[in-house]
Amino acid sequence: MCKDLNLWYDDNHALKDINMDIIKNEITAIIGPSGCGKSTLIRSFNRMNDVIEGCKIKGDIIFEGNNIYRKSANVRTVRSRIGMIFQKPNPFPMSIYDNITYGPKVHGIYDKEILDETVDECLKRSALWDEVKDRLSHSALSLSGGQQQRLCIARALSIEPEVLLMDEPTSSLDPIATAKIEDLCRELKRKYTVIIVTHNMQQAARISDYTGFMYLGELIEFGRTEQIFENPQKELTENYITGRFG
Ligand SMILES: Nc1ncnc2c1ncn2[C@@H]1O[C@H](COP(=O)(O)OP(=O)(O)OP(=O)(O)O)[C@@H](O)[C@H]1O
Ligand SMILES: [Mg+2]
Repeated sequence: MCKDLNLWYDDNHALKDINMDIIKNEITAIIGPSGCGKSTLIRSFNRMNDVIEGCKIKGDIIFEGNNIYRKSANVRTVRSRIGMIFQKPNPFPMSIYDNITYGPKVHGIYDKEILDETVDECLKRSALWDEVKDRLSHSALSLSGGQQQRLCIARALSIEPEVLLMDEPTSSLDPIATAKIEDLCRELKRKYTVIIVTHNMQQAARISDYTGFMYLGELIEFGRTEQIFENPQKELTENYITGRFG
């Protein structure tokens, strides 16, 4: 999916010759020390780096047979098929209901019945329904951090993406809220391809099927999660997962 990808922020070479096959309907974790390029890499997967001044990209990201960086690619379509969840929950300052219908409305859907159904389904899929079903008109900002993050996942699901990119989605959450998001990721992979950046190696080991270890802009090792954690092929990977640096 990702071929000879190189990325520069002005003269900082932040991604170096990244080659990686993301497997559909599996969870891929990206790990590595701070500043190694994890966020940069997943932002390139839905062209979120386009808006950063001085950012230059070379190489291909092939999604469903097409390079998302080809001239004729429609960035809006790319982002609607490849959704993103950020480190800090960032619900819109509006009701729970409106957060989820926002995307569909932008895409021209106004039928109340369809919108109601979307809200219902996305909240169930993001494991939030039971907690909020009686207060859909309340402000999203009245929810706890963990609930807000699940709402952001529901909002991402509302436009029916195929891939979900998550950049440290649990780093601002407590262990219980984190466990809920992890369960949710496992549930989501039935229908979606999930790529998750995490600082937490236990989390990567717990939830992912594939793991990529990055260091100084390079993808050092990529493989089945058990292999990376139990039998790493590179010394650098082993040093990192055994906590010798990072
Ligand atoms: N918007 C930006 N403009 C310029 N340089 C950037 C930008 N974002 C990241 N960088 C640089 O790119 C490199 C990789 O940063 P990135 O944020 O991808 O790392 P990361 O692995 O996600 O780190 P962390 O674990 O701390 O989130 C760093 O050298 C960083 O300074
Ligand atoms: Mg980051």
